[in-house]
Amino acid sequence: MSKEPQAIYLKDYKKPSFAIREVNLTFELFEEYTIVTNVMKFLKLDNVQELRLHAEELELLEVFLDDVALDQESYTIDEESLSVKNVAESFTLKIVNKIYPHKNTELEGLYKSGDIFCTQCEPEGFRRITPYLDRPDVMSVFTTTVIADKEKYPILLSNGNKHQCHENFDGRHGVTWHDPHPKPSYLFALVAGDLGSVSDEFTTMSGNKVALNIYVDKGNESKCSHAMRSLKEAMRWDEETYGREYDLDIYNIVAVDSFNMGAMENKGLNIFNSAYVLANTDTATDANFMGIESVIAHEYFHNWTGNRITCRDWFQLTLKEGLTVFRDQSFSADMNSREVQRIEDVKGLRERQFVEDASPTRHPIQPKSYISMNNFYTSTVYEKGAEVIRMMHTLLGEEKYRAAMDLYFNTFDGEAVTTGDFVWAMEQAGGIDLKQFQLWYHQSGTPRLIVDEKFENGVYTLMLTQKILDDVDGSKQAPMYYPLKMALINQDGALALEKMLIVSKEKESFSFDGFAFKPVLSINRDFSAPIIIEQQESDYAFLMKYDTNSFTQYEATQNFAIETLESMMQGSKIDEAFVEAYGYLLDLDIDLSYKALLLELPSISTLMQRQEVIDCQIIYSAHEDLAKHLADVFQEKLLQIYKENHNPDSDAIDAKSIAQRAIKNRVLKLLSASETKEIALIAKEQYDNSITMTDRVTALDVLEHTDEPLAEEAFKDFYNKYKDNTLVMNKYFGLLSSSLRDDILHRVKTLQNDEVYDDKVPNLVRSLVGTFARNHKHFHAKDGEGYKFVADKIVEIDKINPQMASGLCSTFKIYDKMNKENQKLMKRELMRVISTQGLSKNSFEIIDKILK
Ligand code: ARG
Ligand code: ZN
Repeated sequence: MSKEPQAIYLKDYKKPSFAIREVNLTFELFEEYTIVTNVMKFLKLDNVQELRLHAEELELLEVFLDDVALDQESYTIDEESLSVKNVAESFTLKIVNKIYPHKNTELEGLYKSGDIFCTQCEPEGFRRITPYLDRPDVMSVFTTTVIADKEKYPILLSNGNKHQCHENFDGRHGVTWHDPHPKPSYLFALVAGDLGSVSDEFTTMSGNKVALNIYVDKGNESKCSHAMRSLKEAMRWDEETYGREYDLDIYNIVAVDSFNMGAMENKGLNIFNSAYVLANTDTATDANFMGIESVIAHEYFHNWTGNRITCRDWFQLTLKEGLTVFRDQSFSADMNSREVQRIEDVKGLRERQFVEDASPTRHPIQPKSYISMNNFYTSTVYEKGAEVIRMMHTLLGEEKYRAAMDLYFNTFDGEAVTTGDFVWAMEQAGGIDLKQFQLWYHQSGTPRLIVDEKFENGVYTLMLTQKILDDVDGSKQAPMYYPLKMALINQDGALALEKMLIVSKEKESFSFDGFAFKPVLSINRDFSAPIIIEQQESDYAFLMKYDTNSFTQYEATQNFAIETLESMMQGSKIDEAFVEAYGYLLDLDIDLSYKALLLELPSISTLMQRQEVIDCQIIYSAHEDLAKHLADVFQEKLLQIYKENHNPDSDAIDAKSIAQRAIKNRVLKLLSASETKEIALIAKEQYDNSITMTDRVTALDVLEHTDEPLAEEAFKDFYNKYKDNTLVMNKYFGLLSSSLRDDILHRVKTLQNDEVYDDKVPNLVRSLVGTFARNHKHFHAKDGEGYKFVADKIVEIDKINPQMASGLCSTFKIYDKMNKENQKLMKRELMRVISTQGLSKNSFEIIDKILK
């Protein structure tokens, strides 16, 4: 690095010195470049002489101040800004600049995804389009005209309502869009392309008709029905649940193949990674269908939580993201199974966020500083942020929570606010004091709670101790405040008591009397607080049978399995009590999708997180042994469950069919641990006859781990069928690079040369390289070649797309927990990457934290 990138601090926040009353943009799109004409009406808000606009990688052509062309002395440009001297109280600035979208491989600002012009502006991409006050607390009314070749770009879109069409300037045409709602620049969007579309209509609760359009590559129109249905359900749900109605005449969604993230909530013009729009049962898994429903809803919900009320600055990101994730989780719970949704959300939180929160990149949901804001679209800000909202929901209860949300919307509509403003609304309408609770916004790390119990003279006492972690910089943190749902269950299985405790002190105890025998504790029901419980003793087998809370019942099965695996890792034999309990689960007559979750063994990563010094190879071997044992002992029963639920002729996506596929594929995967030819043949048959992608990917995964020749044949067939469908090819690369077979690194290296693979397409990088870096067995290989490969890719991809590269950097974040041998190998690679000439600030920030 030439000079170390500088951090930005929350404590340095200052209000903007100017407002932009309106902005008028004209885009003239050409193949080799785009000309942007940007006319802004400014109002001075305090006593400054100079206007400093953000501007990055822009070629300035002309600047006019109140219609007078400025000479070179009246303004200055540097790498980050354009400054205009001596400006009046109010004035109009017109800027003409040139950009090169086809060379934009960072995919920030205006760029091309295939033949489509599209944008991604959050958080700071707009400054790569034209000079602006590119910060969320500057909100303005945008009018945008897009002009392009009519044949190549018949569809021209921007935010808001369609205002005017302009025909015929030599085969070129234009469309003007006007968005009446003042918005920050990060919500700006533009799309131009030759797209197919699907249209529908929604009538809002007060009777307004909204035109709904989904734009996709031609030929994909038939894959939009699930996305469209999800959008309409989300619109209805937000009216019913939050009383929020849509506020424009039109809602457009565009699917593009090259996109850094999942999707973006630009006002009236969402832009989506095509993976979150396109689906039919032949090409998308059941999980993909769920993902689409939740992301479509998430972006829609942002219209109120994000767009109408936005963030004052980027440190407030969780204000809109945590809240919107909570809203989309609640929506999915209402649309599907509440119990399964909660478990899936917690699983995701633990796999991603808990890992982050235990690493050197950990940060509060409201960070205090950043080098690259792009690095803070994290699982902490999103998923832990959602848990923080959920806790307030739990503390207030449904009714007061809704009143608090109404107060929030009514008070702050049209403004850019802080998380403090949100908490204020919760306190006002909830009638509670959330002062200590607010620590959740400012402290990092997953809180731990040590749980002890005592039983004397019919009195049961619960003794709680908060383990208080230091912040990442070593500074002391304070005890947290949270709701802790618990129950006591009598020895005969009857529920004796159910309560929500408030935990707030470092040490405290709660007593309950009137028990003849010591009851069994069920703690953190529904996962009411995002914490780690350290319980001295617990009767998991009992809770598996008698706990009435679906979450803690699931938790008991997981904990029992963890306990069993960990003692195996220390050399003990398999605990037959666990095997017996597992057999009990197999016989349960319960919702099959919930049952599929109960039957899943804890992930490798779950066990890694619990190791003081990480060594994944011993986890893999215990895991394999236990799975094999269960598969052998229960073979008959498992096969029976498989047969009962295998409906090869059905591709229905109703709850029952999805649940049947889930349980059937869960037991098939477990059966495959015994590596018999019989299972491989069942999987091959499932592959050959299946009409759903869900069944196909499980079959491929099972074949890959049981029978090499059959796997090869099936993968070849799969490739030939789907090589023209890049979304399906992502699955192909993902399956091949997550394999536990030997010599996977060599395979991954070779796959980079496949004609379908492209380092410039984020989905492909994630499915090949990203998946490999999360394949603990091969990434952490003792020869260091896994690390070396990923480090090489970071250096290569950093030059193309720093956001993608820094995502790969974070796979090294467990560095300080690894055993010495692996640590040494990792360090060598990290040092090599960080000393690369011209490394992006994105990658620098992550690696620097890991190495500190
Ligand atoms: N606001 C978008 C969403 O969560 C994500 C945008 C992410 N942008 C980024 N540069 N990381 O819906
Ligand atoms: Zn979001």
